[in-house]
Amino acid sequence: MSETILSGIRPTGNLHLGHYSSAVRLMLEIQNKGDYDNFFVMIADTQALTDNAKNVDKVKNNVIQVAIDLLSAGLDPNKTTIFIQSQVPELFEMTGYFLNLVTVSRLKRNPTIKEEIKQRSFENTIPAGFLTYPVSQAADILAFNTTIVPVGDDQAPMVEQTREIAQSFNSTYAPIFKMPKAVIPKESMSARLPGTDGKLKMSKSAGNCIYLCDDEATVKQKIMSAYTDPTHIKVSDPGKIEGNVVFGYLDAFAKDEHFKKYLSEYKNMDELKAHYQKGGLGDVKVKLFLNNVLEEILSPIRAKRAELEQNIDKVYEMLFNNGKKMSKIAAKKIQEIHGAMGINYEKFLNK
Ligand code: TRP
Repeated sequence: MSETILSGIRPTGNLHLGHYSSAVRLMLEIQNKGDYDNFFVMIADTQALTDNAKNVDKVKNNVIQVAIDLLSAGLDPNKTTIFIQSQVPELFEMTGYFLNLVTVSRLKRNPTIKEEIKQRSFENTIPAGFLTYPVSQAADILAFNTTIVPVGDDQAPMVEQTREIAQSFNSTYAPIFKMPKAVIPKESMSARLPGTDGKLKMSKSAGNCIYLCDDEATVKQKIMSAYTDPTHIKVSDPGKIEGNVVFGYLDAFAKDEHFKKYLSEYKNMDELKAHYQKGGLGDVKVKLFLNNVLEEILSPIRAKRAELEQNIDKVYEMLFNNGKKMSKIAAKKIQEIHGAMGINYEKFLNK
């Protein structure tokens, strides 16, 4: 299979379990399957700046944090090319040409943009760069001849818009772009993890995240105080599963092997849930089980992080080398673009 796969992630904070259960687990699955020619993972700093222009430090500091999080979680630099978006300046030039192929009203209709504008209460103060970031995302995707973009459902409209831009370029100038496909992960991997407070999703601003870099004691404390079922007061009370954060996390991460190892009175989630719903199973027991399950994931990540933190220079070096490599690929695409548009003026030289 000659696929080129590109994932992107905005560096606005350390990665948490929500990122892990959807984006990062999917990246690891792709990497370990190895069914590709290229697997690129872009740390989208310039995209993060579209709504953080006055917060460059936050974005800058999180570039290295996200790189370390990704490597600690198991991305292997020999199999996966991690790079920083701003190290590929060709993306800006490409964005410039693409901007002329998109209308402002089409951008305003992009459902993800619409939602994000609402969340940020931008109304009449939308930065132009923010409104147009789907166009720069099209450049991210098309610059490297990407065939597959693994995305959560919120990013599907971006890939749709990328295809429209590619089509428009191909029919206006010359057919130089392949049509990338969005691949949306299996349900279990795209399910949003709720915050520890029971809110719909983990977010830094809500302070309800378990971070990949949290130490063991912090993780345990966050689990022990996580939202469960407020009507489940005595152990003998029947408990609710819906909206119960602890069961939400267990659904995402617990496997039958974990029961054998840590809670052998139950075979699987179905048995655990049945007992909880009937009454007679206390939150503490379920939470301690969750803590064991999560530590199996988090403790190797923590160990790897500690190692990488001793070698930050090496991480930067890898990012820089990859940035150069990606910039070369994008420069070739720019040559093709110039040719397709007929603005490859160098052809007039040496005549
Ligand atoms: N928009 C993506 C996000 O918010 C990040 C991103 C930037 C991306 N460029 C990309 C994702 C290209 C996939 C492909 O998470």
